[in-house]
Amino acid sequence: MDFGKIRKILGTPFYEAPNCAIYNIDCLEGMKRIDKPFAHLTVTSPPYNIGKEYEKLLPLQEYIQWSAEWIHEIYRLTLPTGAFWLNLGYISIPKRAKAIPIPYLLWDRIPFYLIQEVIWNYGAGVAGRKFLSPRNEKFLWYVKDNGVYTFNLDDIRDPNVKYPKQKKHGKLKCNPNGKNPTDVWQFPKVTSGKNRQSKERTPHPAQFPEAVIERIIKASSNKQEVVFDPFMGSGTTSVVALRLERPVLGFEIRSDYCQVAADRIDDFLRKWEFEKSQLRLPL
Ligand SMILES: C[S@@+](CC[C@H](N)C(=O)[O-])C[C@H]1O[C@@H](n2cnc3c(N)ncnc32)[C@H](O)[C@@H]1O
Repeated sequence: MDFGKIRKILGTPFYEAPNCAIYNIDCLEGMKRIDKPFAHLTVTSPPYNIGKEYEKLLPLQEYIQWSAEWIHEIYRLTLPTGAFWLNLGYISIPKRAKAIPIPYLLWDRIPFYLIQEVIWNYGAGVAGRKFLSPRNEKFLWYVKDNGVYTFNLDDIRDPNVKYPKQKKHGKLKCNPNGKNPTDVWQFPKVTSGKNRQSKERTPHPAQFPEAVIERIIKASSNKQEVVFDPFMGSGTTSVVALRLERPVLGFEIRSDYCQVAADRIDDFLRKWEFEKSQLRLPL
């Protein structure tokens, strides 16, 4: 990506590092100002309109309309071979649904081609007496063109997926690097609280686990291809993209979260540089 061109359009970023820029901006406004497609892969999780501290609650139809607008902008800015991974949860609709999957409300407002819905299943969640404890969210995997998209299956094979009868006549029948990880993924949520706080936890209340994003970025992009997160939050997508050698652009409307992301990226880059310098030491 030409960060110089992005700078000319959007001005000085809140934070920048080699192959990385973060803008403290309303993503819809930011995207509308960029004229040409640049994103190989967008990975994001928007507000769910459920009253989180970073949300302005909207009437349902307005929320759907707003979502359709920013999704259209992502579509416009996605390169022809690019992909869009969208993480969505549930929303309650008075008198209709305790918790309706948000993808049901948006399914006909998304111009991308839907490859698959991936279920992210986790252990931590809400307890229930009159309903089953919710323990999943969805990741919807979209592409711009279903004839030419990237899928690096070998980079995400799961050595822990076990199938019965893996051997025939003493020979391994399956790929020794592991199986296709299927469309149900089990990764722990990023948790907070005494004694159960995840190591990667930041002050952001809705952080992606790095392991989920790593699988997505490896599967749907190649090194040096641009990753974009318009609802960047604590910067999980950015840190993982940089670790996997993909340039990254992030937008976030709150400056305090931009700062969380900037500190997190700085911390990562410092450790990474240190590790590289250790590898360069003569034995
Ligand atoms: C679900 S959180 C994303 C968390 C992120 N995936 C992470 O790992 O930290 C959604 C984020 O979108 C931000 N946001 C809400 N409206 C926005 C907008 N119009 N433009 C840019 N960011 C926005 C919120 O402040 C919040 O940090």
